Amino acid sequence: MKITEALMAEHLVFHNLFDYVEKTAPGLKSVSEIRSLASLLEFMLAAHSKTEDDLFIGPLDPAFEQLGQRETFHHEHELIDHTLALAKRAARADKARAHLLSAITLCRSHFDKEERIVFPMAERLLKSKTLQELGKTWLEQRERVIK
Ligand SMILES: [Fe+2]
Ligand SMILES: [Fe+2]
Repeated sequence: MKITEALMAEHLVFHNLFDYVEKTAPGLKSVSEIRSLASLLEFMLAAHSKTEDDLFIGPLDPAFEQLGQRETFHHEHELIDHTLALAKRAARADKARAHLLSAITLCRSHFDKEERIVFPMAERLLKSKTLQELGKTWLEQRERVIK
């Protein structure tokens, strides 16, 4: 499997999670329930973003540089993490909910950019063999998480 296909499959799972959070967060009354959703999202995103940072940034570095997007890609991961941390730290439910929903908005925009620009760019610029090898590394990393 190519790394782009693997990451795209992960994105599909995240889209379901984003839908769920947007649907349920407005009805949650307690701050601890909202914090739990933020923690779940943070935990799941950490592995995904780390894969992108570790396996993607390096091989695509020259292309990102050309687009002036080299820092943006990494910065957006940090911004999402920071917003989720605010949701987890918030003392009141309304504040926690606002940060959580704002993190979802950031995620949607970031994921959309990856799907429209970054993944197609990787498919264009990297050799099929490289995409397959990176996909293999992705699988090995995921299997290590499971064991
Ligand atoms: Fe990302
Ligand atoms: Fe992604």
